[in-house]
Amino acid sequence: MEILGIDVGGTGIKGALVETRTGDLLTPRHRLLTPEGAKPKAVSGVVGEIVQHFKWKGPVGVGFPAVIMSGVAYSAANISQKWIGTNAEALFAEAAGCPVRVVNDADAAGLAEMKFGAGRGQKGTVLMITIGTGLGSALFSRGSLVPNTEFGHIEMYCEDAEKQASEAVRIREKLSWKEWSTRFNTYLQMLEALIHPDLIILGGGASKESKRFLKRIHVRASVLPAAMLNEAGIVGAALAAEDLADKASG
Ligand code: BGC
Repeated sequence: MEILGIDVGGTGIKGALVETRTGDLLTPRHRLLTPEGAKPKAVSGVVGEIVQHFKWKGPVGVGFPAVIMSGVAYSAANISQKWIGTNAEALFAEAAGCPVRVVNDADAAGLAEMKFGAGRGQKGTVLMITIGTGLGSALFSRGSLVPNTEFGHIEMYCEDAEKQASEAVRIREKLSWKEWSTRFNTYLQMLEALIHPDLIILGGGASKESKRFLKRIHVRASVLPAAMLNEAGIVGAALAAEDLADKASG
């Protein structure tokens, strides 16, 4: 079925129409900048613009960088604190004029990789880490998602791991790939000691550069770059909204 998938990121908000049976994008991606400060009204305005760009009237899935439970945001690491307690689903539905499902952005990317990408057919424990403005996580056991894991916020060198090893930190601190991979490898080793995944999938903005750092990752689990690169967030957001389409049709 066709669903509009939208991925809200720290720097950009991207959307495309997705065929959820195949995971294909049916349109080019439309990308707008994330408004400065990422406050609720401004972000929902951009979500509304993306829906209008596609003249879309059907279900919309949104991947959002926060803990999301029943549509409500419960954290705000790289976005305005005003999101905490905000019903993101209701706010976006109002701006879009369509039914909207909101899920955590890394969970969305993980859903797409498990269905169409590097995690396809994997029945063991699979951990996906998205490397971008923050570090996002999605954990799967026997193919089922354990939502809102937030492993980007485990403590590493006395601070949030994502403040040490995200893509944004690599760029901001002008770290070489070697320097950054050493930090990121420590991060994965810490996670591995806690979760013991069979497979680790690395996604987000940095996944297209995986050749530069995969050789420096030393963990027991198999490690694969995300097969869908940065499209996983859009596709997974659409997958998360499939039940809205089911409700509408039946
Ligand atoms: C947020 C997560 C999000 C991740 C990636 C973190 O700062 O806490 O909810 O999944 O960034 O965007």
